[in-house]
Amino acid sequence: MSCPPCPRRRALLVAAAGTALAAPTLASSRRALAEMTEGPFYPPRAWREAWPDQDADLSRVRQGERLLQAQGEHLGLELVVADTQGRLVDGAEIEIWQCDALAHYRHPRVKAEPGRFDPGFQGFGAARSGAQGQARLRTIKPVPYPGRTPHIHFKLRHASFGELTSQLFVAADPGNESDFLWRRLKTADRPGLTLALQQATLDNGLRWMARHTLVVPA
Ligand SMILES: [Fe+2]
Repeated sequence: MSCPPCPRRRALLVAAAGTALAAPTLASSRRALAEMTEGPFYPPRAWREAWPDQDADLSRVRQGERLLQAQGEHLGLELVVADTQGRLVDGAEIEIWQCDALAHYRHPRVKAEPGRFDPGFQGFGAARSGAQGQARLRTIKPVPYPGRTPHIHFKLRHASFGELTSQLFVAADPGNESDFLWRRLKTADRPGLTLALQQATLDNGLRWMARHTLVVPA
């Protein structure tokens, strides 16, 4: 089995990922994800360095001894990074950022007035994919803000493909059809950037779950 490019090994790897993460839809997602603008609210790394908390759980913020909970409907995000050949990508850096339940981003250009932000929402978080290409993050179901349908921004980095930036949308959200960026996407590119939210079933504070494969160039 020491043949990384051989189809049988790839098939086994894909099968293994399916077992671990309830069958991410690799077969229907071989088209590389469409890149989109990062928008004006990517929090600069130097500015983030002062944050006490920038882990993979955006739904809670540690403030000294206190753990603040984000407003909004909490969402568990299980992502798999795989390439167009179905190979799972180990060690990809995954960053996500989105506005809070009050529709504000954490960014130096957004004025920090009292009551303007949800102090329990981290705004930005990062994770790294494991050997099966998977990463888990916890956030809130994205909300609309003026001019945009709900979305989660993301960046992926890995030596094999460099850096990719795009956005994840929510399936069947009524705002999608009037969103200027959604409308610009080719119809064939939309599934690769659309989360199918499912009601969470475990008693872990989550309201929603979404499993999604991010397909990167081979
Ligand atoms: Fe945005």
